[in-house]
Amino acid sequence: MRSIAYRFTADEPHMRTGIGIRRDKAIRVSGGEGVAHYGPYVPLPAGTYRATFRFRRDAPCRGNAVIDVCADSGSRRLAERPVDGEGIAADGMAASIEFSCPDTMANVEVRLASPGGFTAEIEALEISGELADGSAPRVQAADLPSVPIENTVSRGRNLYDGYRRGVGLQFTDLAQKIVRDPDYREARELAGTRTIVGELNLCNMFMIIKFYLPRLAPGHIVEFGSYMGGGAIFMAALARKFLPECRVFGFDTFAGMPQTDSRVDHHQAGSFSGVDLAELRHFVEESGLRNLEFVQGDFAETAAPTLRLIGAVSFCHIDCDIRSAIELAYDTTKPHMVAGGYWIFDDPMVADCLGAAEAMEDLLIRRDRLNSEQVYPHYVFRQP
Ligand SMILES: C[S@@+](CC[C@H](N)C(=O)[O-])C[C@H]1O[C@@H](n2cnc3c(N)ncnc32)[C@H](O)[C@@H]1O
Repeated sequence: MRSIAYRFTADEPHMRTGIGIRRDKAIRVSGGEGVAHYGPYVPLPAGTYRATFRFRRDAPCRGNAVIDVCADSGSRRLAERPVDGEGIAADGMAASIEFSCPDTMANVEVRLASPGGFTAEIEALEISGELADGSAPRVQAADLPSVPIENTVSRGRNLYDGYRRGVGLQFTDLAQKIVRDPDYREARELAGTRTIVGELNLCNMFMIIKFYLPRLAPGHIVEFGSYMGGGAIFMAALARKFLPECRVFGFDTFAGMPQTDSRVDHHQAGSFSGVDLAELRHFVEESGLRNLEFVQGDFAETAAPTLRLIGAVSFCHIDCDIRSAIELAYDTTKPHMVAGGYWIFDDPMVADCLGAAEAMEDLLIRRDRLNSEQVYPHYVFRQP
C-alpha cells in the first residue's frame, strides 16, 4: 500500500491565516475570533489520513478551537473536531484529526478556527496517510467537453481548444478525472509540496502537454519563476512521458524576488527566498528527471544566453508575479517561440499581481495585439 506524507512549516505560503500573525517561523494566534489557519490546498488520492497541527512548546496554548478538513473550496467537509489548550498540551503540543477521502480530492484544506479566546503559536501542519488501492483510467482528448464553436484558428488562436479546456475545468467534472489520471498523479506526487501553482492550473498544463504540444513543431518548455521547483518538476515528469525530445528549464534567482516597483508590484524584494537549490537539484537527480535543469540568477542575466543555447521553445510558463520580470520573460522568449506555441500567465488574475496584469495588457494585448485562447484557470495565449 502506498503512503503520502506532507509537512508544511508556518513560513511557507501553503499555510495561510486569517486572524494570526506570522512571526519567528510561527503563526501567532492571540485570542481573536476567526480562522487561525487555512490551506494547504493539496490534492489527496482516495485513502485514509491524519492531519496534525504542531504548536510551539514554549508559547502558551489556551482556550478552545475547532479543526476541520474540507475539500472543494470548503464546500465538502470531511471531518471536524473540537480541541482545547489542555488537550493540545497533553498531546505534546499537537492536535490531530483523522479523515478519509472516498475519492481523489483536489484542494484539500485543514482549518483551525477560533470562536475567540484561543491562544497558541502554530509551527507546522503535517498530513500523512495510506492510499487506497485501485487505479483510474487515463484521460483522453475525447473526455474534454464538446463545444458549439468552430474548430479553426482565428486571430492567432483556436477558441475551440480554449473553450474545451476552460469549460471542462470550470463547468464539468473534468478536473476530477484529471487528478485521478495515473500520469497526472505520478507527476503531481513528484511535485508534492514544492509547488504553489493551483491544482486547476496544473490540470490545464497537463492537457496542453499531453494533447496539444505534440501537434506543434518540436520545442522545449521554459518556466520563469520556479521557486521551490515543483511546477517545473510536474512539467518535466509529464514531458518525460509525452514529449521525449523536450527539455524543461526552470529560471529563478532561487533567492527570492529581485528589486520590485512599488508603483505596480505588491511583492517585495526578497519574498520567496529560502530555497535550497542544492537539495532541489539532488531531488531531481534522485527522481531520474534527466530532462530538467534549473538556471539560477536574475532573468536579466540568465534568460537570453540560455535561450540562445537551447533553441526553440513551444511552451512558456510565466509565473514570476512582478511587472519587470514578466516583460523580460516574454520579450526574451518571443524570438524563440515556435508558431502556435503556448504562453501561460499564472499571475494576472491574482489579487496581489497587478504588475503582472499590467505587463500582459501592455505587451501582449496593446503592443502585440494578441487575443487570449483561454482565461480560466489562467491566461493562455498562442504565438501567431
Ligand atoms: C510565485 S513564485 C513561482 C512559483 C513556482 N512556479 C511554483 O511552481 O510554485 C515566483 C518566483 O519568481 C521569481 N522571480 C521573480 N522575478 C525574477 C527575476 N527577475 N529573476 C529571477 N527570478 C525571479 C522569484 O524568485 C519567485 O521564486
